[in-house]
Amino acid sequence: MLTDLMTINKNKAVFDSIYNDADPRGYFSVLGSLDYMIPDVAEPIIRQVLATRAALRGTNTVLDVGCSYGINAATHRFPVNFASLRQRYARREMLSIAAEKLIELDRNFYRSWPDIGVAEFIGLDISEPAIRYANQAGLHVNGVAADLETRELSAKEAAILSSANVVLSTGAIGYVTDRTYRKLLNVVTEGAWIVSFVLRMFPYDGFIEAFAERGLVTEKLTSTTFVQRRFRDSEEFERSLAVLSARGIDTEGFEADGLFQAELFLSRPEKDVRAAPLDKMITISSGRHRPFGARYVHVGPKEDRRVVIEA
Ligand SMILES: C[S@@+](CC[C@H](N)C(=O)[O-])C[C@H]1O[C@@H](n2cnc3c(N)ncnc32)[C@H](O)[C@@H]1O
Repeated sequence: MLTDLMTINKNKAVFDSIYNDADPRGYFSVLGSLDYMIPDVAEPIIRQVLATRAALRGTNTVLDVGCSYGINAATHRFPVNFASLRQRYARREMLSIAAEKLIELDRNFYRSWPDIGVAEFIGLDISEPAIRYANQAGLHVNGVAADLETRELSAKEAAILSSANVVLSTGAIGYVTDRTYRKLLNVVTEGAWIVSFVLRMFPYDGFIEAFAERGLVTEKLTSTTFVQRRFRDSEEFERSLAVLSARGIDTEGFEADGLFQAELFLSRPEKDVRAAPLDKMITISSGRHRPFGARYVHVGPKEDRRVVIEA
């Protein structure tokens, strides 16, 4: 059936091998070559959502669903982005070392940056090596490797996920359906906020229904789409456009330009929606993630600000 997420997902290229490596070098090389950018374009939005939630509800613990190697934690917590990480791993010196050595270097690398995040992260992914990497590199405090499409959570796994009060996903809906989220909602903190970047080819209705059953109200940011990556080949392009067209979505100026497009959905208790509606919470600064030359920025506390040049 066309509306089945798993069936729709089959129209996308398969990247299973790079999701299951001991470290993220293959991931950055292959997805980087397709200009994968959703962690970068989502990052400023995630930061605004987390800052708003922190002001309303206190400390954030983010469960990143389909987290892979913990890229969302990296881009949120440290001044790095997908493009800069891709460059790091593309060096021949990095390509020639063993995975254990790379993980040790990455742990030191992340420890060498100030943590600018407003959350700690835990992960859920079907890939055991990816979860292990995210923990060992120090990006996540904990994680669960499980396919909740096909099995239940163990009591130990449920205990790990229970501290989550935000459930985030980028590039993962389609691989996971509302079946996974229904199980997660049984164990995460009641009233958790759910932040999903969802490709327009995937219907999100089943998720919205599952969240409504738990008293969560879903808003969509209607004014903006987020580029995920380029289509890999003409087959992926044609098949995805056919799915979108069958869903009645006009792709002109969006996917028809050769780019997968995602939308932002935020689900949370109604009182939180009333306190901070999504369209008042989010400001898009278009173009901010593109590379720049040196620019003037402020550093230091408000009362003692200095101007420096950031290169
Ligand atoms: C395109 S990657 C997105 C990774 C990351 N969120 C990002 O944007 O960089 C999709 C991820 O979903 C994971 N995945 C696939 N099936 C899954 C499942 N049933 N449960 C959890 N994760 C799954 C894959 O292992 C992979 O890490």
